Amino acid sequence: MPDDFPLQSQTPDALMLFGFWYRALPSEKLGRGKLVRTMLLEQPLVVGRDQHGQAFALRDACPHRGMPLSCGQFDGQQIECSYHGWRFDAHSGQCHLIPSLVAEQTLKIDRIYAGSYPCEERDDFIWVFVPDPGPVGAGFSKAVPARTPAPEIPKFSEHYKLAYLTADLPCSVDHGIIGLMDPAHGPFVHQAWWWRTRKSIHEKQKNFEPILYGFRMSAHTPSSNSAPYKLLRLCADADSITTTIDFVLPNLRSEIIRAGKYWFSSLTTVTPITRSQCRIDVVAAWNLFRWIPFGPQLLKFVFAKFVEQDRRTMELQSEGLKHNPHLMLIDDADRPAKWYFGLKNAMLEMKKNGGEFRHPVSGPVTLKWRS
Ligand code: FES
Ligand SMILES: [Fe+2]
Repeated sequence: MPDDFPLQSQTPDALMLFGFWYRALPSEKLGRGKLVRTMLLEQPLVVGRDQHGQAFALRDACPHRGMPLSCGQFDGQQIECSYHGWRFDAHSGQCHLIPSLVAEQTLKIDRIYAGSYPCEERDDFIWVFVPDPGPVGAGFSKAVPARTPAPEIPKFSEHYKLAYLTADLPCSVDHGIIGLMDPAHGPFVHQAWWWRTRKSIHEKQKNFEPILYGFRMSAHTPSSNSAPYKLLRLCADADSITTTIDFVLPNLRSEIIRAGKYWFSSLTTVTPITRSQCRIDVVAAWNLFRWIPFGPQLLKFVFAKFVEQDRRTMELQSEGLKHNPHLMLIDDADRPAKWYFGLKNAMLEMKKNGGEFRHPVSGPVTLKWRS
């Protein structure tokens, strides 16, 4: 990370990264034959589930005159627009019927498309691929296929449990993400007798390394000052516990904890809804607490508390941000945040001018902070 990296470009600019998969909504919110309106990166979407249970996503605007397709009728296969009754295939968006046409009118309706998006279901969430903006008029042709499959939580055994949490955050995706990777807020925001107290602040040292489009906090034995880890240490062979945390563009934070045959894995995303709103989704998979009767509920309770503390903090922070204050990123505690802005700039630069991805982290580096 060059030290002369301009401060301006380290502060949140709310640019959103197109050309990636994003979590749209939890699977359980989308019943068969249902349509749900949602938004990703300021694009209105209608997400639905067909008669066979397959999810799909279309732009929530009819290509005829812009009526939201979510206002239309859905028979489990095709959506009929509520304005003039044009019918579209739910998956491809291809037009199948324009009721106003008479026999001798030869408009090629199969060349008309409602904008559609690649859509996949993973780990109890519906993911939508939001492509790079095309030329004007795009979205009225076939969907751009995604280059990669939707992200998935790494799992290390056949049987596991899965749970999720979600919260809307009243801030830009950048503040959401740097809040997520910020080690210094822990003792102040996440105090609880069963977790840790403010008095437990001590110096920490963690090793980081660059990975493709992101960085990794290398495998380490988690800090001993929190109750859950103490519990874990009792239950599993203490020396074998390791944690690895990755951040990868555009918004993926994954954490893997392994303790012998037990594992806990989570994939947290902060998704831009509009320039000033985002949503955090935490999805976790584990085989860890299977011997504790209330394991999943306990885990969900702990995580819900954490997410709520972060959400409340960002709600208060958004008050302060309303008036565009000058902001600072300091070493070493804010270095991951600087890397995030560096990664994002490199991605935007590569998309704009082509060429190589200029990774802001040149090699392994050790960061120190007190928390
Ligand atoms: S606006 Fe949809 S059919 Fe006319
Ligand atoms: Fe937090």
